[in-house]
Amino acid sequence: WRMSSHLNPSDGVSMEVCRAKGGATGLRVAILGAAGGIGQPLSLLLKMNPLVSTLNLYDVVNTPGVTADVSHIDASAVVRGFLGKDQLDSALEGVDLVIIPAGIPRKPGMSRDDLFKINAGIVRTLCEGIARACPRAIVNVISNPVNSTVPIAAEVFKKAGTYDPRRLFGVTTLDVVRANTFVAEVVGLDPKLISVPVVGGHAGVTILPLLSQPLQVTPAIRFSDEERHYLTNRIQNGGTEVVEAKAGTGSATLSMAYAAAKFADACLRALKGEDGIVECSFVASQVTDLPYFSSRVKLGRNGAEEILPLGPLTEFERKGLEAMKKELQGSIDKGIQFATSA
Ligand code: NAI
Repeated sequence: WRMSSHLNPSDGVSMEVCRAKGGATGLRVAILGAAGGIGQPLSLLLKMNPLVSTLNLYDVVNTPGVTADVSHIDASAVVRGFLGKDQLDSALEGVDLVIIPAGIPRKPGMSRDDLFKINAGIVRTLCEGIARACPRAIVNVISNPVNSTVPIAAEVFKKAGTYDPRRLFGVTTLDVVRANTFVAEVVGLDPKLISVPVVGGHAGVTILPLLSQPLQVTPAIRFSDEERHYLTNRIQNGGTEVVEAKAGTGSATLSMAYAAAKFADACLRALKGEDGIVECSFVASQVTDLPYFSSRVKLGRNGAEEILPLGPLTEFERKGLEAMKKELQGSIDKGIQFATSA
């Protein structure tokens, strides 16, 4: 624990108070790719999370500026910057949670798979660092294509002998966030009341919102066929909607940082022992015949404690599940092949 510069006993703040604010008992988080479009607002949101005691910001460019800027916010987390690959291991040493938004984003006309060539290598390098410096950390992978980068991370950890499937998560929270927003718009409710499980993967048709199980509100919502098609299509293409609106300047960054901060907070609360936390995430899974699959996961002190069953599916959802399998399996295989042949 380090006391941040603006807090010292002469301010009249006792050490006990400092500690109670999270210093001694807080969790240590590293963000890899912290200077990027997602990384910067995500750094801001994590700095504001009271469960975080140390926030390590790593990137290959621009971390000194982002670190100086974020560190002036009067929240208790100590912010430290790390620049370039020589500082990767120091950024990771002793951390409890690693979040990875490093890599290039899409431009109009690109699929997430078009990012594979560059991002696969970035994720592999960063995961080799995790295996060396913090093999027990929970890992949240944001870098696309998530359907391939999560299998790549798993293979790197297997090779290093550190793999624990419970600790590796592909972040698909933005799909859930979008689903909740779009459903709320259609039914005219507060999005906070809505929680749509989104299962499968994180690209196009592999994104399957289970609109038959959206929430616990009564009376239950029943969508018309037209609404179901509209919503499924909009949720599957939400990322592309943003890519096109940004017209070549990037993909979702603000909503993604919000979603990543929400998922990270769930992981941190679970690490702290809070009970009953359930989030959708792309994980090693046996709920279908695919080796990785996103579905509702119960989080605990060791990461994914239990992968919950999909629940009853409608005919429309069953067809969606069958229709995604070939593409999802292909993306998983591509990741495994990349990591095992290198
Ligand atoms: P960006 O280009 O604005 O930022 C990426 C950052 O990664 C840059 O600061 C860059 O310097 C850094 N970086 C590159 N190589 C690195 C390395 N070897 N080590 C550490 N940092 C490195 O991109 P943006 O918009 O922040 O997106 C990042 C990734 O997140 C993309 O792959 C994008 O497709 C993905 N994404 C995932 C979503 C999801 O739902 N999982 C949603 C939106 C984007």
